[in-house]
Order: sequence, then structure tokens, then C-alpha cells
Amino acid sequence: MTLPTPQKLTLTDAPALARLHQSTLAEAWDAASFEQMLQQPGVGGWKLEQNGTLLAFLLFRTVLDESELLTLVTASTHRHRGMARRLLSAWQAEDRARIREVYLEVRISNNAAIRLYSQTGFIPCGKRRAYYPDGEDALLMRWPWQVD
Ligand SMILES: CC(C)(COP(=O)(O)OP(=O)(O)OC[C@H]1O[C@@H](n2cnc3c(N)ncnc32)[C@H](O)[C@@H]1OP(=O)(O)O)[C@@H](O)C(=O)NCCC(=O)NCCS
Repeated sequence: MTLPTPQKLTLTDAPALARLHQSTLAEAWDAASFEQMLQQPGVGGWKLEQNGTLLAFLLFRTVLDESELLTLVTASTHRHRGMARRLLSAWQAEDRARIREVYLEVRISNNAAIRLYSQTGFIPCGKRRAYYPDGEDALLMRWPWQVD
């Protein structure tokens, strides 16, 4: 399958984002939360759609020249086909001139995500103990887009 072209998220995506998030993650956000986040300064994102169906998206928040990757999800039916990687590279291509570094937290047990992030250029940089509601630790990672 040829990957769809990444598009920027808009407010009207909120219900679809919530549906995909809820189908995937235990601590999922609802449509109102996505709508609220998308209206905050510095918050943006990218999506992949096919025939109007949302297949994958990422959401980030930028403060000055630093961004945090807030969430990244690919529909379970469409995983391991390069969608997450495509979204990360679309974001980087658009914003690399103004963002110095990207940060994220990921569950220490989430091997697929940690592999994706490591391959993309993220480097482990710390741990947050019992970060998640079920007590699991988070691995902190950073992805430098600009060399000091
Ligand atoms: C993590 C996630 C976003 C990856 O999305 P994806 O579209 O399947 O990822 P890609 O196809 O772009 O994969 C890129 C790389 O990620 C890694 N990867 C993806 N799925 C993997 C799997 N099931 N097992 C191991 N590595 C995997 C591989 O390194 C892969 O590169 P390769 O294809 O050359 O082996 C997806 O599995 C997902 O939505 N998981 C649930 C939500 C989640 O955990 N999000 C991250 C929260 S921080």
C-alpha cells in the first residue's frame, strides 16, 4: 500500500482522534480533550487518512524551540507499514528550522515504540519512576534536530 500524504491536524479531527486513541491506549483522551488541546498555543499535529478514515496521527506541543511529542498512534490494522515513521518525518521536515529538540515519555515496556523512536533518532535521556497510573516507569527520550 502506498502511504497517504501526511496532513496537518485541525479542530474538526478531534472526534476521530479520540476514537483511534480510545481503541489503542488505556489512558485515552476524549474528543473534548483533543479539541481543547488543539486550541492551545504551540499544539499541533499530523495525520494520515485514507478515504476519510484516520489511520495514524501524532500530536505535539512546542514551547519556544522545544517540542514534546504528546501522543502517536497507528490503527492496529495498519501497523508496521511505516506510518508512524512517515508522520515523524513530515513533522521534522516542516519544523526543523525552528525546533531545536523534541522530548517524549514512553512506557518502558513499549518495545515497538522504543524501537521506532531509536531508529528515528531519539536518544534515551532518563527515566521517570512510576510515571503511569499503573505504576510503570517512563523512559525519557530526546531527539535533537539542531546541533548547538
Ligand atoms: C508505536 C506505534 C505508533 C508504531 O506505529 P507504526 O506505524 O506501526 O510504526 P512504523 O510502521 O512506522 O514502524 C517504524 C519502526 O518502528 C518499530 N516497530 C513498529 N512496530 C513494531 C513492532 N510491532 N515490533 C517491533 N518494532 C516495531 C520498528 O523499528 C519499525 O521499523 P521497521 O519497520 O524497519 O522494523 C504503534 O505500534 C502504535 O500505535 N502503538 C500503540 C500506541 C503507542 O504505543 N504509541 C506510542 C506512545 S509513546
